[in-house]
Amino acid sequence: MSGPQFLHSQLEKLARKYDTPFYVYDLEGINQRLKKFRASFHGDVEVHYAMKANANKDILKNFKKHKIGVDVVSWGEAKVAIDAGFHHRDIIFSGVGKSIEEITKAVKHQIKQINVESPQELIRIGEVAKKLKKKAQVAFRMNPNVSPQTHPYITTGFRENKFGMDASFLPELRGILTKYKKNIELKGVTLHIGSQLLTLDSLREAILKTIPIYLDFKNSGYPVETFDVGGGLGIPYDGQTQIDLAAYGAMVEELLKPLECRILCEPGRILVGEFGVLVAEVQYIKKTPFKNFAIVNTGMNHLIRPALYSAVHRIEKIETRASAEASELYDVVGPVCESSDFLGKDRYLPKLHQGDLLAILDSGAYGFSMASNYNHHDLPKEIILKK
Ligand code: LLP
Repeated sequence: MSGPQFLHSQLEKLARKYDTPFYVYDLEGINQRLKKFRASFHGDVEVHYAMKANANKDILKNFKKHKIGVDVVSWGEAKVAIDAGFHHRDIIFSGVGKSIEEITKAVKHQIKQINVESPQELIRIGEVAKKLKKKAQVAFRMNPNVSPQTHPYITTGFRENKFGMDASFLPELRGILTKYKKNIELKGVTLHIGSQLLTLDSLREAILKTIPIYLDFKNSGYPVETFDVGGGLGIPYDGQTQIDLAAYGAMVEELLKPLECRILCEPGRILVGEFGVLVAEVQYIKKTPFKNFAIVNTGMNHLIRPALYSAVHRIEKIETRASAEASELYDVVGPVCESSDFLGKDRYLPKLHQGDLLAILDSGAYGFSMASNYNHHDLPKEIILKK
């Protein structure tokens, strides 16, 4: 796989031009990855970018140009997507807590598919569609109860997670479909078992468990035609093995072939994660008898993943000439008033000085999109590299 293409000289130049901290994205890298992702399927696959990973407008416009759709989890995201040029028909709407207002907009504008997360949500969709005299297209998000071997906070397809529906809901769902048959059309089933998956085993198990549900609907005359396998493919933040995209595409196609369905998917991180870097400047070096702290001008407010999921992001000192000074062990920390405000712990880095620049790698997904202005620091800038 083509990796990220950031050169230290390039990052240094940008840091001279723009104030740090900033995120910088490599659009060419993202496009290469999209191409590779699509090529992993031999047949047609309808890609819906999970824009929660990174909703930068230029990235969205770029994806629209490449004729993919989006997966949104709020009407706020849908608005951003529409602003960037997406049509309502390009939108899949996921998420466990859709409000009446959100459902009303989705049904009124006839988006492609609402991924339903509970019987009560299905009733709400039915009522809204009836009032609007419309037919809503929905897919049932199942919870296949698999353990996806990822951080517990980003596991979604296990029975203890709030996401998706247990197979025991099916009789109730069928009853609701019958009641609202004029206003709800069941298009298919959908899954998303978790994020940052580094093996395909749990996804295989989840698909296998969900196929009979799809077939059951099909055999009882429902107009099902889509099977949405969600997102979740992980990236090698810390030297892990890169997921084999060709094996992923082949697996999905092979498992779903007997269904003769349209294949949908919702990748987020895999398309953008490796193609973003957060650049920061060292403000202070604080050496205690116990630790060396490199205090930088960005932290959990701009990249919350280390604090929230103990995620490891590689950190590099941006240098255009190799330093002759020996490396030292640092905790790279931010300005926020929390001890959870760290970007990396116990990292060997070339000796750091006030004013040095650091690059926090693989920050293209769930970086800026999860940033906040906690402590009333400004948000970081975002820069797009086109070539
Ligand atoms: N589809 C649905 C319904 C989702 O909930 C998600 C992510 C995706 C697709 C895309 O998943 P991806 O391909 O990016 O793994 N903030 C966490 C990740 C949360 C993922 C939430 N759902 C992190 O920084 O690791």
